[in-house]
Amino acid sequence: MLLTPVAIAYSLLYSIAKGDVFGKDQPIILVLLDITPMLPVLDGVVMELQDCALPLLREVIPTDKVEVGFKDLDAAILVGSMPRKEGMERKDLLKANVAIFKTQGEALEKYAKKTVKVLVVGNPANTNCLIASKSAPSIPKENFSCLTRLDHNRARSQVAMRVGVPSDCVKNVIIWGNHSSTQYPDVHHAIVNNHGKEMSAFDAVNDESWLKGDFITTVQQRGAAVIKARKLSSAMSAAKAICDHMRDIWFGTPDGEWVSMGIYSTGNSYGVPNDLMYSFPVMIKNKTWKVVDGLAINDFSRGKMDGTAAELVDERDTALTFLGA
Ligand code: LMR
Repeated sequence: MLLTPVAIAYSLLYSIAKGDVFGKDQPIILVLLDITPMLPVLDGVVMELQDCALPLLREVIPTDKVEVGFKDLDAAILVGSMPRKEGMERKDLLKANVAIFKTQGEALEKYAKKTVKVLVVGNPANTNCLIASKSAPSIPKENFSCLTRLDHNRARSQVAMRVGVPSDCVKNVIIWGNHSSTQYPDVHHAIVNNHGKEMSAFDAVNDESWLKGDFITTVQQRGAAVIKARKLSSAMSAAKAICDHMRDIWFGTPDGEWVSMGIYSTGNSYGVPNDLMYSFPVMIKNKTWKVVDGLAINDFSRGKMDGTAAELVDERDTALTFLGA
């Protein structure tokens, strides 16, 4: 397990170390990798983890060396990236992050187990994930995913609040595409348990113009709205989404339910261009995801799915020029 102690990781460590992600009987060794100037801060985090007296936590290894940080990992959560500041476009971040994720991919290739599950969180997450996977050619592409579970959870919650039910009464929303403002939160296949009665999200919400308008923009813009309000990007909700994502990889998705994650697009049945990390609905069993195929896509959805794909193609092509540089 590998993390960096930015705010998201700080919110995440406790949940992982107490068994919320990998199970209540799975001993945990946490490897915390960060840049050298952050090592004194990391020492404080190590002290706090020790002070939690968590029975599953067997060792905490703080380091600034990739050969230590990536050695024999079973799971890698790549949280650190060049952070976005208020008003900054995600593309501005691309160049700096290509360099970071190339280094991390190469270190995974060299030091991690070939079975390692890699979750990329640092933005632009989809393209960073693609760069990391291209830099680790001997690790299967299927082992790499990027976080769109935060968007998935946001979509679920928005619908639940609108209907007036708890969030677990809403399932099978979909986030298509990029973890950016072009993402497409799609509720055409979502089911709501509306006070005991199962129905489509469109019937439960009973406001098509909201579902096709403000709902979509709210979810698309939520990260920016949090940054504007907090002057910091989301940490608690991102950490929760990371836990949800990794736990589902480890233990599978519940029967009849899918989740959203950014995965390698090559071979998909939805007409999404190959060689992207694109968010799809997936079901997971035995630590292996499968895209949920055969969902009907109307013209409204098609346009939005293609729009976010075009952004990812553009990001990828720009990133690849930086990769070669
Ligand atoms: C979020 O969705 O909250 C973040 O990814 C926002 C950002 O760009 O840092």
